[in-house]
Amino acid sequence: MKKIGVAVIGTGFWGKNHARAYKEIESTNLVAICDLNAERAQAIASQVGVKEDTNSTEMLRDKEIQAVSVCTWSTVLAQEAFKALRAGKHVLVEKPMAADSKQAENLQKAAQENGLHLTVGFLTRFIPGLQHIQKAIESKTLGDFVCATAKRVTQWPERIGDVGVIKDTAIHDIDAMHYLTGEDPVDVFAKTGNMKHKQFEDYAHIMLTYKDGKSAFIESNWLTPYKTRTLVVTGSDAIMKLDYMTQDLWIEDAKQTLQPRFVSVEPLKLELQHFARCISEKEKPLVTGLDGIKALKIAEAIMKSSAENKVVELE
Ligand SMILES: NC(=O)c1ccc[n+]([C@@H]2O[C@H](COP(=O)([O-])OP(=O)(O)OC[C@H]3O[C@@H](n4cnc5c(N)ncnc54)[C@H](O)[C@@H]3O)[C@@H](O)[C@H]2O)c1
Repeated sequence: MKKIGVAVIGTGFWGKNHARAYKEIESTNLVAICDLNAERAQAIASQVGVKEDTNSTEMLRDKEIQAVSVCTWSTVLAQEAFKALRAGKHVLVEKPMAADSKQAENLQKAAQENGLHLTVGFLTRFIPGLQHIQKAIESKTLGDFVCATAKRVTQWPERIGDVGVIKDTAIHDIDAMHYLTGEDPVDVFAKTGNMKHKQFEDYAHIMLTYKDGKSAFIESNWLTPYKTRTLVVTGSDAIMKLDYMTQDLWIEDAKQTLQPRFVSVEPLKLELQHFARCISEKEKPLVTGLDGIKALKIAEAIMKSSAENKVVELE
């Protein structure tokens, strides 16, 4: 099997995990990493045993690199992803993909025009419990889908200084709702605000409505002293509860509670393996650039709804 040559741009808290996981995966060959911070670049490069750079333009000249993970600060993701696409590399860009949906659309266009893969780091889609729920909704094992409630709360990770809790955190659940329902919401209503953060919202309560009256609720904040990441899906015949952190899934109906077990694999490895396979087999990725654009458009509608205190319809 020919390995896919990969590199990582931005090796902070999350990008260093991409570098480590690429190193551990059979189907990828980590060629180089890059970070603006020279000390960090050096430290991570020596941990994973590859060359480092502080300038991505230089690094991207390397012909051995076929694909790149972009894990920089959220507001510079698109700029670095563009550079990589222009250099002819396939791209996995971390969420939220870009600073806004317009930038995200331009990225998608650049990938399409150059015949390159573009995928977005919506990691939750690689959690087996979420995939199980998605199949149960599709096959109506739960009866008719009624609603889904997601809660993703924690303390503010202070290194995140360029976006608020919606684009940083709720965006995972916005995408998960799209994955589960297979539909776009028809409208959104939200209340957001900042209690501690000076610049951006640090809490968001979001209601997405789908055609036929289905709905989704998302509670997201950076105010809760401990981390909770859960999903409850209600169907007309049963409910499913997922703890994203432990990956425990419970299926409950009037008679019983079942708890299926899944093989434990790091979701990031599943995501990166999938990215490499999509490149070598020319398969469509589970998460497309269009999914990233949709999630950002919904995030923008959420902010508008809260600012104007009204329901915002989506196109
Ligand atoms: N999918 C997930 O579950 C998940 C989890 C955590 C973070 N993320 C995403 O990953 C990204 C990084 O988050 P983080 O927590 O690692 O942030 P971080 O601040 O710890 O790291 C960002 C790194 O990028 C580097 N950087 C910034 N601009 C650069 C550029 N132009 N070229 C090279 N390096 C550059 C910085 O020096 C820093 O080391 C964010 O977009 C975040 O939303 C995704």
